[in-house]
Amino acid sequence: MTERTTRPDMPALQPTEATDIRSAVQQRYTLVAERGLQAIPDDGGGCCGTAESCCSPNAERLYSPEEIDAVTDAAAAASAGCGNPIAIGELRPGETILDLGSGGGIDCFLAARQVGPTGRVIGIDMTPAMIDLARKNAATLEAHNVVFKLSQIESLPEPDGSVDAIISNCVINLAPDKPRVFAEAFRVLRPGGRLHVSDIVVTEELPLEVQADVSQWTGCIAGAQVQDTYLGQMADAGFSDIEIVTSVPTSSAGDEPWAHAVRSISVRATKPS
Ligand SMILES: C[S@@+](CC[C@H](N)C(=O)[O-])C[C@H]1O[C@@H](n2cnc3c(N)ncnc32)[C@H](O)[C@@H]1O
Repeated sequence: MTERTTRPDMPALQPTEATDIRSAVQQRYTLVAERGLQAIPDDGGGCCGTAESCCSPNAERLYSPEEIDAVTDAAAAASAGCGNPIAIGELRPGETILDLGSGGGIDCFLAARQVGPTGRVIGIDMTPAMIDLARKNAATLEAHNVVFKLSQIESLPEPDGSVDAIISNCVINLAPDKPRVFAEAFRVLRPGGRLHVSDIVVTEELPLEVQADVSQWTGCIAGAQVQDTYLGQMADAGFSDIEIVTSVPTSSAGDEPWAHAVRSISVRATKPS
């Protein structure tokens, strides 16, 4: 594995506790919010944290020029996704959309254009600096149909059956308790509601030392699950019609011997009516 240098702004943490992981994820994405993804140096953390990785140069790689023009420069600079969940399913005028791990808000602002003034978009993120950035971006765009809420996606601040569609972009891999995330998504969706997720998965278990590397976790690699396990957890939560729409290799793992196993997928699923 690539030798890493110690960074004063990203102290090494052992991912033995979920709280350690959440704290490390918050540190990483506070830096992304404050300086943009391109400012995060390559410390071996891969995907969502390196300038030359699968998530960078991000907005230009994931979105059309027209989509990028529709959001603020700051939202585009903080874009740390690994796909385009807006592109894999229709969002309709008047609908309520929830974004799990909304970051600087790029997908929320794109969703807001589709649901229009009678619809509503709710962005959820646990990193205060990301919520601050997203709210500033919303003010700049005069996006009155978007709100951002500080919360963990494992415990959503929304009522049962209140959401028409959930989007999420490169976030669930970062959560220590994925079954709980899928259970919460299922709870807040109305019957017939849709889940549109882009995320990192692996085709085989990564070496244990990679899984135990918190920098690889915050970079969207160590927390990535084997694809069948990931889809199985969606099914266990109650989702049906689970369909992988796109699956592409990522450059996030560089030339590591296990790099071939890391993929970015976009998945659709439905809460049965
Ligand atoms: C890789 S970034 C992606 C942000 C955004 N979806 C995008 O495409 O730019 C991950 C974001 O998810 C947030 N996040 C990670 N784990 C979370 C959790 N368990 N609960 C809420 N937010 C979380 C981070 O704070 C960060 O803003």
